[in-house]
Amino acid sequence: MRTAIRFILMSALLGSSLGVALGSWAQDRKIEQSIKHRKAGFTLMSAYFSRLLQTYDSDRPFNAKQVVADAKTVEYLSRLPWEGFAPGTDHGETRAKPDIWLDEERFKKLSADLEAKTTLMTKAAETGDLKKFKVSFEQTRNTCNACHKEFRKD
Ligand code: HEC
Repeated sequence: MRTAIRFILMSALLGSSLGVALGSWAQDRKIEQSIKHRKAGFTLMSAYFSRLLQTYDSDRPFNAKQVVADAKTVEYLSRLPWEGFAPGTDHGETRAKPDIWLDEERFKKLSADLEAKTTLMTKAAETGDLKKFKVSFEQTRNTCNACHKEFRKD
């Protein structure tokens, strides 16, 4: 009888600590996935943004159609990284500063700025006027830099 009770108690204990371990494992995986999500978003956005940079620097011949297509892709991709900044994802393999979660309003403002600037950049590209595109490219780039300066570790 005694042994049976002990067995039941032990199983319950083991079960609950296993549950806790699994829970924290799942939590860690969630954090890892959030971080991967945002980094992948930034990396892809940056790939298309670099193409526009080449046009901006006159390292790539100006092709209005291609610039519109790339600008649209950047505009679309600029919407994606933010979902990856879930609460509790300030540690791990990340350069995100904890300030992001301390001053969420400021971070949200800068991310909204990026979305707005990339929309304007598409519009500017659609005019087919290289000068207009360049001005709006600069404004977009300034937003990338402003946020990195405030919220990304070197
Ligand atoms: C609202 C803030 C914000 C804006 C705007 C922003 N970034 Fe970032 N970016 C970050 C943060 C924070 C990280 C660090 C992410 C991490 O390590 O978890 C980052 C990381 C990156 C990375 C590195 C990704 C990796 O794999 O580690 C690249 C590349 C990048 N950003 C490019 C850009 C470009 C290009 C723009 C503008 C078109 C831009 N970002 C706009 C906040 C921003």
